[in-house]
Amino acid sequence: MLCQLLATAFAMIGAVAAVKHQYDYSSLSCPSSGLSTLITPTYGKDGAVFTVCSSITINAPATTIRDVVIDFKSYYLWNSFVVSVSVPSNVTKTPRDDYVGMPMTFTTSGLIKGFNTTSDEVLTNVDTGGVGVNGKPYLLVSWRYNDKLGGFGARAEHPVVIVDLGDGSSWVLSYETYYVGLVTPLIALLKSQLQAQFDAQSIDLKTYIEG
Ligand SMILES: *[C@@H]1O[C@H](CO)[C@@H](O)[C@H](O)[C@H]1NC(C)=O
Ligand SMILES: *[C@@H]1O[C@H](CO)[C@@H](O)[C@H](O)[C@H]1NC(C)=O
Repeated sequence: MLCQLLATAFAMIGAVAAVKHQYDYSSLSCPSSGLSTLITPTYGKDGAVFTVCSSITINAPATTIRDVVIDFKSYYLWNSFVVSVSVPSNVTKTPRDDYVGMPMTFTTSGLIKGFNTTSDEVLTNVDTGGVGVNGKPYLLVSWRYNDKLGGFGARAEHPVVIVDLGDGSSWVLSYETYYVGLVTPLIALLKSQLQAQFDAQSIDLKTYIEG
């Protein structure tokens, strides 16, 4: 009986893992209320505390935008929020050498006046996407915060959803959802700075790509 239960449980876990990316990320948009949160691929909905979010339309194909978003080594050229990213030494070229599980260190500016901050991140989706219920294809990339405490300190994930609008332009939704953790209340104190930097980052991305 127990064996049967376990087998059923494992079968269900398998099924959930297999359909993980079937969720229609193109149906999301930035929450209108600060109390609403958005789902992420790694952590789902449970325990979400807050989401910072920005969206923008960029006059370029989705794949072009995706390649810029995961070209971490070039962030210093355009991004006023994430001013530089360090990647493992065997990753000589991004996005070419990107892989799921790749550790990165982000240097971020604008959260605490007069200081740069750093955060360890792990790439979680690099070549994912689907077709939304509205029939529009989209791409999804994401990375998650690595607190090096197994998520006990803070869990957070940053997805970028790029929807092909069918006219050569794309709609880009960039957000980060923060989940229950010991350090999350401290991060929540920076929410308005994070929001301002997410908005700046979206405009930077558009300016860099459209030239
Ligand atoms: C770099 O190392 C990681 C981890 O060992 C490996 O998964 C990845 O394929 C390597 N990438 C290249 C381009 O050698
Ligand atoms: C933050 O990093 C940027 C880019 O590396 C650098 O130009 C700037 O001087 C740094 N700011 C501080 C306060 O260290």
